Amino acid sequence: MLVSATEMLNKAVSGKYAVGQFNINNLEWTKAILQTAQENNSPVILGVSEGAGKYMTGFKTVSAMVSAMIEEMGITVPVALHLDHGSYDGAKKCIEAGFSSIMFDGSHYPIEENIAKTKELVEICHSKGISLEAEVGSIGGEEDGVVGAGEVADPNECKMIADLGIDFLAAGIGNIHGKYPENWKGLDFDALAATKEKIGDLPLVLHGGTGIPADMIQKAISLGVAKINVNTECQLYFQEATRKYIEAGKDLEGKGFDPRKLLAPGFEAIKVIVKEKMELFGSINKA
Ligand code: 13P
Repeated sequence: MLVSATEMLNKAVSGKYAVGQFNINNLEWTKAILQTAQENNSPVILGVSEGAGKYMTGFKTVSAMVSAMIEEMGITVPVALHLDHGSYDGAKKCIEAGFSSIMFDGSHYPIEENIAKTKELVEICHSKGISLEAEVGSIGGEEDGVVGAGEVADPNECKMIADLGIDFLAAGIGNIHGKYPENWKGLDFDALAATKEKIGDLPLVLHGGTGIPADMIQKAISLGVAKINVNTECQLYFQEATRKYIEAGKDLEGKGFDPRKLLAPGFEAIKVIVKEKMELFGSINKA
């Protein structure tokens, strides 16, 4: 059964670990992540960007697929199906489609408008038992057409949004989506600590999990980060494994062209990286 992400993330804050949000693109991605979570007795959040939702023909398809897979695969660990960087309209569509968690990314609006829209969505989500993530300070890089400059969130604005009753907060601390550039200055831990001081035990979300060194991840968790989003790294692992399969000419041997064979190395590669992240985040055996 799908659950909201509130309880799993509150537990993570008190237990000083983080739950991974892994973005999904198709059935193989979803199956690999669910299987890894179950094998490692870890809670998990499946992230769906608006672009990925569209790719999979719509949020209703995603919701139906994930719910059916949880049942057919006998998944018993807590799973949240979460809209990633949702627009106001996208959030409403996902609420309708049966998602159990929503991120409303109003970081590009003036703070007053971000507050007004977040407030309305908090009420709708909570009346349906759905968790809501809000964002202050846009995350740098580009993801599915959403471009951010990598801002550092103002702790006072974080407090204003936190006070709306949201369930967890993404605050920009110099993190960016995709690969980090050579000259990246690292996470801004002073900003993280200042925000934590203002918002207390509200779980913090770290976007752009790909390529953040392990020591920074651990420090971020010690400062209140309880949800870490990973997307690009799964894509890179999938790509590398698929490339090796083709370059080794395996698709030309026997029935190697069968999509179930062609996609198998990428599927196994996603399982490897998801497990690695769960180990690093400390979520194993926390289901
Ligand atoms: P990466 O693609 O950098 O891992 O970021 C994922 C993310 O933050 C999704 O919202």
